[in-house]
Amino acid sequence: MRILVISVTRSRKGQPVRAERIVEGEMIRLGRGTQCEIHLPDPRVALFHAAIYRQGDSIFIHAPEAELAVDGGPEREARLTPRVHIALGPYEMTVEPPPSGCDLALAIELVRPLPDDLAEIRAKSRTSLEETALSKRGPAWMLAIVLGIVFLLAPALNAVLPLLRQATVKLPVTPDQSWNPGQLSAGHQAFGRQCGSCHETPFVHVRDHVCIDCHVKTPGHVQTVGLQTKLFGGTRCANCHADHKGADALVRRDPDLCVTCHGDLKYFKADTTLNNATDFAVNHPPFKLTLWKGPNRADVMRVSQTEKSKLVEQSHLKFPHDLHLKTSVRGPKGRKTLECRSCHIPDASGKGFEPISMNKSCLECHTLEFEPAVTTRQVPHGSVDNVMLTMQEFYANIALNNIPVDVVDIGEIQRGLPRLGNGVITEEQRQRALTWAKFKAQQVSADLFEARVCIVCHEVTKAVIRGESGKEIAWGVVPVFVASTWMPKARFDHVKHRTNKCADCHSVEKSHSSADIAIPDIVKCRECHAGNKPAANKVVSTCVACHGFHLPNHPPFTVRGSMALDAPAGAALPVIGKLQ
Ligand code: HEC
Ligand code: HEC
Ligand code: HEC
Ligand code: HEC
Ligand code: HEC
Ligand code: HEC
Ligand code: HEC
Ligand code: HEC
Ligand code: HEC
Ligand code: HEC
Repeated sequence: MRILVISVTRSRKGQPVRAERIVEGEMIRLGRGTQCEIHLPDPRVALFHAAIYRQGDSIFIHAPEAELAVDGGPEREARLTPRVHIALGPYEMTVEPPPSGCDLALAIELVRPLPDDLAEIRAKSRTSLEETALSKRGPAWMLAIVLGIVFLLAPALNAVLPLLRQATVKLPVTPDQSWNPGQLSAGHQAFGRQCGSCHETPFVHVRDHVCIDCHVKTPGHVQTVGLQTKLFGGTRCANCHADHKGADALVRRDPDLCVTCHGDLKYFKADTTLNNATDFAVNHPPFKLTLWKGPNRADVMRVSQTEKSKLVEQSHLKFPHDLHLKTSVRGPKGRKTLECRSCHIPDASGKGFEPISMNKSCLECHTLEFEPAVTTRQVPHGSVDNVMLTMQEFYANIALNNIPVDVVDIGEIQRGLPRLGNGVITEEQRQRALTWAKFKAQQVSADLFEARVCIVCHEVTKAVIRGESGKEIAWGVVPVFVASTWMPKARFDHVKHRTNKCADCHSVEKSHSSADIAIPDIVKCRECHAGNKPAANKVVSTCVACHGFHLPNHPPFTVRGSMALDAPAGAALPVIGKLQ
């Protein structure tokens, strides 16, 4: 006997799922026991509940101890013909027409399963979305719309409607906050809520002129024009000042900013005389010093530190460092040892030094007495006219008053002075006295300028002119120019190097002439400054460490000049220089 047993289960949607198998045997037992060929595991079924057997052509089911419900009525035995329904405990069996090769087809389904308590409690305690009035689709749409309004529509409207913008700017959170890609720089936070101050047109890159409108005084660099500049981003403000990077990160400091152009300068400015520079450590031209050539203050020349023979300072001031840096220098109050600081007084910022001052630094030892007999009177320093006037007043005072206040012994000086007598001085006598005073001043000045005092430090000039008393000599002092900035195209800060000895960088101890120059060269700097890449015991120094971009004496950028208005936003500047 071959029976096709079809186990019917239900899918979650209630659809029947049928699993078929063949059972063979003379007698087929049904029950909870494991010996049964058709195993019905439900506990309400007996261990051996019923058996199917053949009798002649017919097939019967027989339940020896239990009951069967055959088509609704209780029976102990029934004949299995198609469409007969038999309830066996919680199972329902339906006889189906057997397929060929089988004697019987029996579909069995557990129609009354035991309730699973835990599952039942769980199911009761959960309210599914379906049980409420809501559906999943509704909230999803609502969320999408809210997101669209908050993050798309509101900022967009805010950007295009000026009236809305004016109203919302007072709110604690403006609609376009959600588009803010990052904190603005400290300087810009004050007006940063008005995105439109920089982003004039929504979805268009920030244009140079909005920056220039506010930063009118910021000097430019060099205006490069043409396709090259356009292609490589050139001087577009946002290339180097990409905002939204935090409070103190407005200026990019990587060398690429500069190397884009300075790696191949001729490409950007065909007539340049500058050499390329890509990395301070390996590819940077020797420094050029700015030397005064006169006659005007602004007349300077630039001399490379490699051209040693041309490195001559013409300050027109005589000064031997060596004699003053000896261990004990003669002074009026005894010997003393001078330090650099005695003459080079740091300026307020500490970056450089106050200009050398005769009155502050030299006068103490180099006094300006003019009359050998009188050591308490000096001429003022700084103006030839004042020197002459002071001397004339001094001698006129002696002549007219006969008793100069601050003079100890006047006998020597008064030789040649006409006797004026006591009492009222006539006009004629007065004139004679003054003429004498002038003569005396002229006489002394030759000694003062040419022999003893001024000539020690200055180049003195002498011209013969016609004066009131015949031929007179007009003295002059060649204008002095003591340089304070030797490297105007870079910046050097003495404060940052204060741990070093002055002599490390300036070998002035052996210098006997002010024509000598003791400004350190690039070799010296490279002892401590690495270039773009780190090196042992050196400080990494990219271009911006020593150079600004907005150079003094360069006209501010104009909108027309910054060619790269339409360059891609934030496009990294490509490096075209040859890095060695
Ligand atoms: C001080 C000027 C300034 C202000 C104010 C400002 N931004 Fe920007 N923003 C910039 C600059 C510069 C860039 C760099 C973009 C470029 O290269 O063109 C930028 C870039 C962006 C970008 C990225 C787009 C891009 O091109 O990469 C977004 C978005 C943006 N800003 C949104 C805002 C929002 C929103 C506000 C107002 C809360 C705002 N910005 C205020 C200057 C500003
Ligand atoms: C509404 C006027 C305004 C606009 C527009 C503006 N700035 Fe400014 N910027 C300021 C003010 C104000 C400061 C802070 C004061 C200061 O440091 O000079 C500042 C500071 C800066 C600083 C820092 C100065 C420092 O010493 O730290 C830089 C760099 C700068 N702005 C560049 C730009 C660039 C680039 C743009 C165009 C994207 C721009 N600014 C647009 C007003 C403006
Ligand atoms: C090639 C890079 C570069 C470009 C392009 C550039 N800057 Fe600068 N900018 C700098 C650097 C570097 C500094 C910092 C200089 C320093 O540290 O002394 C700076 C500083 C500033 C400062 C601070 C004040 C000052 O004078 O030092 C302002 C303002 C400024 N830039 C505005 C602008 C504006 C406006 C534009 C566009 C017309 C612009 N910058 C284009 C590199 C650039
Ligand atoms: C758009 C191209 C370009 C960029 C970017 C650029 N420069 Fe220049 N730079 C030039 C040109 C061109 C010259 C002038 C050459 C000449 O006049 O012969 C120059 C000149 C100079 C000079 C000499 C200035 C003078 O007065 O003689 C210095 C220093 C300098 N650049 C430093 C820098 C630094 C530092 C940066 C980066 C922050 C930089 N440059 C970025 C093109 C550029
Ligand atoms: C008695 C005053 C005095 C003392 C002390 C002195 N200097 Fe000077 N120094 C001067 C004067 C004056 C000049 C300008 C001379 C000129 O025209 O070159 C000068 C110029 C310089 C210069 C620029 C010109 C050059 O030669 O390169 C340097 C650098 C310098 N001094 C370094 C030093 C150092 C370092 C010391 C200490 C070791 C020192 N000085 C001590 C008076 C002094
Ligand atoms: C502490 C005193 C002292 C101070 C301060 C001083 N000098 Fe002198 N100076 C001397 C003495 C002493 C001599 C003579 C040295 C010698 O001949 O050995 C001298 C010599 C000179 C000479 C002539 C050198 C020669 O070749 O004959 C010059 C020029 C000079 N000083 C300039 C200056 C200047 C400029 C300053 C101020 C920046 C200055 N001195 C400050 C003491 C001083
Ligand atoms: C010990 C050296 C020393 C002596 C002596 C000296 N000077 Fe000077 N003189 C200087 C120095 C240093 C400066 C520049 C710094 C200053 O002005 O204080 C200077 C500057 C001057 C200037 C200004 C030059 C200019 O271009 O601004 C005049 C004028 C001048 N001296 C005249 C005289 C006369 C006149 C005498 C003689 C009576 C004299 N000096 C004596 C050191 C000296
Ligand atoms: C690390 C090297 C270094 C050290 C250390 C150093 N200097 Fe300088 N000094 C320089 C350079 C570079 C310059 C040229 C700067 C310029 O002109 O822009 C200079 C310029 C000067 C000048 C001429 C410019 C001016 O402001 O008058 C004097 C003077 C000077 N230094 C004195 C000193 C004294 C004094 C010390 C010690 C307290 C000292 N330096 C330490 C590198 C150095
Ligand atoms: C003995 C070592 C030494 C020598 C030589 C030296 N430096 Fe420096 N320099 C330093 C150190 C260390 C710092 C960093 C100081 C700091 O960051 O506070 C520095 C800082 C600087 C800075 C400031 C950088 C910044 O980011 O603010 C400049 C500019 C500079 N040096 C230029 C020069 C130049 C130009 C020379 C050659 C004339 C030179 N230095 C020679 C050690 C040196
Ligand atoms: C450690 C400091 C330092 C660093 C880093 C540095 N430079 Fe210089 N650079 C100088 C000094 C100092 C000068 C001489 C300045 C002068 O003569 O006025 C100079 C001169 C120049 C000059 C020539 C100016 C002229 O007219 O001769 C250019 C161009 C230049 N540097 C570009 C660069 C570039 C680009 C970088 C980055 C790759 C860079 N520098 C890095 C200190 C430095």
